Amino acid sequence: MEMTKDQRDIWCEWLLQRRFGGDAERMKATMEELNRVRDKVLEHANLRDGETLLDVGCGDGLIAFGALKRSSTVHVIFSDVSQDLLDHAQSIAQKMGVLDRCQFVCAPAEDLSPIQGEAVDVVTTRSVLIYVKDKQQAFCEFHRVLKAGGRLSIFEPINRFGLPEPPHIFWGYDVTPVAEIAQKVKGIYQQLQPLDSDPMLDFDDRDLIAFAEQVGFREVHLELQIEIKPKEKVNWETMLRTAGNPKIPTLEEAVQEALLPGERETFVTYLRPLAEAGQGITRSAVAYLWAAK
Ligand SMILES: C[S@@+](CC[C@H](N)C(=O)[O-])C[C@H]1O[C@@H](n2cnc3c(N)ncnc32)[C@H](O)[C@@H]1O
Repeated sequence: MEMTKDQRDIWCEWLLQRRFGGDAERMKATMEELNRVRDKVLEHANLRDGETLLDVGCGDGLIAFGALKRSSTVHVIFSDVSQDLLDHAQSIAQKMGVLDRCQFVCAPAEDLSPIQGEAVDVVTTRSVLIYVKDKQQAFCEFHRVLKAGGRLSIFEPINRFGLPEPPHIFWGYDVTPVAEIAQKVKGIYQQLQPLDSDPMLDFDDRDLIAFAEQVGFREVHLELQIEIKPKEKVNWETMLRTAGNPKIPTLEEAVQEALLPGERETFVTYLRPLAEAGQGITRSAVAYLWAAK
């Protein structure tokens, strides 16, 4: 039976729906970008015929299905904390006729105990450690489940780059005339994800290197990509209905919660034309880490 929106857990709901704001164009553009990330993660993993890959926090299977398509003799263990996403991935695997090369394990990155030590050749993970409080323990688990000579390949956004924004900047847009109102909306997000303690914001590329070295990876590589560039024009409705991650409200929800009706109108009247014209600056940083045991 098809799951309805209300029955899915927050991870499933966000990955399948809320990250795209219900916009097919945005979904297409996001997936094109993610496919490039997937290819790079898999290249760094140096996956060979006949090997077993564990994808931690597999979601709807971006990396895992990419690995299965690379070789008809590769086996993949899909693992995630979301049973809904594992079920979703399993039904895709069935339709693709690759179920015999898949295993599905519900476990957090910090405790992969359903998987034996030295059981896999490759561990991959994309945008999962940002949700993990004890990242050192997750690296410990990655090292434990890998065979000698096994490879780890990771991609993570470095979300603390460019934060905190100055009071007159909201999500990269200069909102000086409505800065006070914008601060109230920012407050909703800052309360949910404090800069100094939220797992999504409390680490950078150097921490990732340290985590890998400390658990004993003998070779560690890291590539940091930083971009500061003009924003693209966005569809306002999409921007309103998109949530940046599963743990935070959409802009529409945050505005509703933080502002009085008059403030909402002032804020939206100012921000909307900037967003639609792409008059802002994007600041982003991402890291690829790959390592050998
Ligand atoms: C941003 S999604 C990425 C999904 C997938 N890796 C991809 O590349 O599309 C984050 C995933 O991490 C999973 N997740 C969240 N906390 C986790 C944890 N502690 N351990 C393992 N997976 C976790 C979520 O269920 C979700 O599937």
